[in-house]
Amino acid sequence: MYTQLEQRGMHEPPVNVSTLRKMKHDGEPIACVTAYDASYAALVDAAGADLVLVGDSLGMVIQGHDTTVPVTVDDIIYHSRTVARGLRRAFLVADMPFMSYTEPGMALVNAVRLMQEGGAMMVKLEGGDDQVEIVEHLARHDIPVCAHLGLKPQSVHKIGGFKVQGRDPDKAKEMLLSAKRLQDAGADIVLLECVPNEAGKFVTEALDVPVIGIGAGPDVDGQILVLYDILNITKGRTPKFVKNFQAGCDSPYLAVQAYVREVKEGDYPAPEHCFS
Ligand code: KIV
Repeated sequence: MYTQLEQRGMHEPPVNVSTLRKMKHDGEPIACVTAYDASYAALVDAAGADLVLVGDSLGMVIQGHDTTVPVTVDDIIYHSRTVARGLRRAFLVADMPFMSYTEPGMALVNAVRLMQEGGAMMVKLEGGDDQVEIVEHLARHDIPVCAHLGLKPQSVHKIGGFKVQGRDPDKAKEMLLSAKRLQDAGADIVLLECVPNEAGKFVTEALDVPVIGIGAGPDVDGQILVLYDILNITKGRTPKFVKNFQAGCDSPYLAVQAYVREVKEGDYPAPEHCFS
């Protein structure tokens, strides 16, 4: 009973939503990374990652698709269950895949599956104002939610490619208003992908919940990267925000440790990884 009370006394207690909020409050950068299996989950956990995401990026880096669109709820559950077995301290978030949250009832059923079958502690969905009702419904049922704004890869066919979002000041303002509405609806984390530094900064300053960035500049509460980008496994052209942390490191463990250290010390992202 209340094992968590015992764990609180541990040298490195498991990360939970309160830890993440405190890190924002204290100005301690949150180091996040994706993982898709138990071995890498154990490695990134030992290397000091605070939050691990079973992202639908697995469609691209594991399954070999061009986009995240083909990923299913069963795919995420399979990988999340394996990642959960490898983690000790890091907080586990699982992605809600394309079309798995088109209405509140369906979103709740799928989110519950990710938590009960996949071991996730929070679900992430790509959303704007259209997802406020979904987030509200999940939050009312005590499902922790991360709302993903900016570039939403599940919308790639609608947007017409993987493009920087929020460069137009009106669009940036819309993004900020959506972020606030999603927070008010109960989102516990906001994730911003591919936005100019300035947008990352003003969304982060305006919100009480932690803001995690990927290509959102240095002025957010934490950073996330796809593990295979950190390890330079991804072939071909990579986005501007990607840094090869494997260069000069003898093992994947040391590469992830270098990433965590650079995030914590504010050395990553550097200007060459940012959008203006
Ligand atoms: O699917 C994923 O891995 C993500 C990250 C890129 C943030 O959403």
